[in-house]
Amino acid sequence: MAGFYFVRPSSLCRMQWFVCFLPSVLLVCGASLCPCERPELCQQIRPHRDFEVFVFDVGGKMWKSYDWSIVTTVATFGKYDAELMCFAHSKGARVVLKGDVPLTHIVDRDNRTAWIMEKVNLAKSQFMDGINLDIEQAVDEGSPEYQALTELVKETTEAFHREIPGSQVSFDVAWSPKCIDKRCYDYVSIANSCDLLFVMSYDEQSQILGDCIAMANAPINQTLNAYEQYLNLKIDPKKLVMGVPWYGYDYPCLNLSQEGICSITKVPFRGAPCSDAAGKQKAYSWIMKQVNSSLTGRLWDSKQQAPYFNYEDKNGQIHQVWFDDPESICSKANAVKSKGLRGIGMWNGNILDYSDEPVARQQTAAMWNALLGC
Ligand SMILES: *[C@@H]1O[C@H](CO)[C@@H](O)[C@H](O)[C@H]1NC(C)=O
Ligand SMILES: *[C@@H]1O[C@H](CO)[C@@H](O)[C@H](O)[C@H]1NC(C)=O
Ligand SMILES: *[C@@H]1O[C@H](CO)[C@@H](O)[C@H](O)[C@H]1NC(C)=O
Ligand SMILES: *[C@@H]1O[C@H](CO)[C@@H](O)[C@H](O)[C@H]1NC(C)=O
Repeated sequence: MAGFYFVRPSSLCRMQWFVCFLPSVLLVCGASLCPCERPELCQQIRPHRDFEVFVFDVGGKMWKSYDWSIVTTVATFGKYDAELMCFAHSKGARVVLKGDVPLTHIVDRDNRTAWIMEKVNLAKSQFMDGINLDIEQAVDEGSPEYQALTELVKETTEAFHREIPGSQVSFDVAWSPKCIDKRCYDYVSIANSCDLLFVMSYDEQSQILGDCIAMANAPINQTLNAYEQYLNLKIDPKKLVMGVPWYGYDYPCLNLSQEGICSITKVPFRGAPCSDAAGKQKAYSWIMKQVNSSLTGRLWDSKQQAPYFNYEDKNGQIHQVWFDDPESICSKANAVKSKGLRGIGMWNGNILDYSDEPVARQQTAAMWNALLGC
């Protein structure tokens, strides 16, 4: 960060370089420096739009190809990119920080307050519009960490709303509130105290209790039933943003049955005997290249409402790849509308093929369009 200001100092800072030089007042100076072409682009976004399209960005310049006619929030999980901030603001979209901290560190109240203030100050100095809390740690119900997490979300939201009017605080939750991956959080209090929950409706095979076989990343019924679980807790549907995967899983098959069932290696995870960790996550751009040279071409599983295919690698190993595409995403996006949720988003925005190839352009546009249903 500091380096950035020294490389491209504003005239104000150039005149007062000696002030900037003192680390203790760097923040003060930094806060007055807008890196955008027009200073008003540094103003944080205040209006709330009815329908959220929440994008995770993991770095690089792919964001230039996003569909900015629909993006409302970008959670920046890559390096700080002032150009992205300025551009998003020019489109009326929020840019939010990533927030993660070991929960054992913030059981202590002073430590928690210090962490929150550090994030608020960082957001201010970078002209950001909030924070996405991505704390995917295992927590036991009623433990000190359980209480501390609930407090963290509440206090973070209060601090951001107070210090940056109009800012947004979101919290990432697993696809179901039922202690998935041992994340036994106080979902109701957390939902009530922040602006929205980003429901990660993917990695739904992280704890396979039945047969150890390759399955869809986010089967339709399992995905949608879990929203009913959130809503049954009396969580406001307008607090829920559905997260869909723009990636799939590539599983090496131990055995591929006549019926096309791919058995997978047992890799235990948080108490379950097998998990999707037996496979590798693959970007949609990779999947779309692989499917044409596969053994089967794109197949469709009507129960899980998901596409998949089998391919043979250069060592003769058979793989089964499960993914989401516009067809599987459409039915989920339709449910966002019918359940009256706050919006939709994806992990992650970067992993489409944004090249100029006509086929890629068409596939990429279809993925963005699918977010709005069909
Ligand atoms: C406070 O946070 C720091 C890390 O920022 C950690 O090393 C320390 O153990 C924490 N203290 C307590 C009492 O939790
Ligand atoms: C592998 O699949 C074949 C064909 O469906 C089946 O006959 C065989 O029992 C399977 N082997 C194992 C180890 O599951
Ligand atoms: C894959 O095959 C489909 C259908 O034949 C075709 O439309 C598409 O252009 C191919 N994609 C690539 C990347 O070659
Ligand atoms: C999925 O849900 C639909 C509608 O609720 C139901 O008819 C169907 O049997 C379910 N499928 C599976 C595989 O559970």
